[in-house]
Amino acid sequence: MEKEINIAIFGSGNGSNAQRISEYFADKEGIKIATFVVNKKDAYMIERAKNLGIPCRVFGRNDFYNTNNVTDYLKEMDIDFVVLAGFLWLVPENILQTYQRRIVNIHPALLPLYGGKGMYGMNVHQAVIDNKEQESGITIHFVDEKYDEGTTIFQAKCNIAPDDTAETLAQKIHLLEYEHFPVVIEQVVGNLQHNN
Ligand code: GRF
Repeated sequence: MEKEINIAIFGSGNGSNAQRISEYFADKEGIKIATFVVNKKDAYMIERAKNLGIPCRVFGRNDFYNTNNVTDYLKEMDIDFVVLAGFLWLVPENILQTYQRRIVNIHPALLPLYGGKGMYGMNVHQAVIDNKEQESGITIHFVDEKYDEGTTIFQAKCNIAPDDTAETLAQKIHLLEYEHFPVVIEQVVGNLQHNN
């Protein structure tokens, strides 16, 4: 039998994608959401972890960038794969090395458009609206040492109506994320298992 794949979801804030992904995999065999890793003490994602009965650890800047505390924790939890869902810091080298081609991120725009430093959360949607774009979407990609530049795995689009605001666009994007992110994770993890 194939080993169960343990996933850690990293986030910085609300955590609605983390919850959606956890619910998707709750009754599936072979993939388990083993922990949430959060970099802000007051992230609502911590509350969601409690409600879902999923372990959650908070690590600060020093833990991430000057120690092996995070990789040690991931090893202790037997983590095979990392999902970034609303995680706002660059992933440090020691984690990238340990999880090569095994870290994915979701970005709420059609990369390479509207990516890079500062392009997160509502900033992205506001910029898209300000530029009068007619469509936006989501990009799921592998993670490397730069913001939003790893190989694209999947994109999905939505139309922007003339009366859309950054807020209504954010809602459309979230629906796309909830629909596709868990399925794409399942596919990427499945491919990993077959290539091993
Ligand atoms: C999502 O829109 C995601 O694309 C972006 O940050 C947002 C996180 O939302 N990276 P949530 O924390 O999952 O609710």
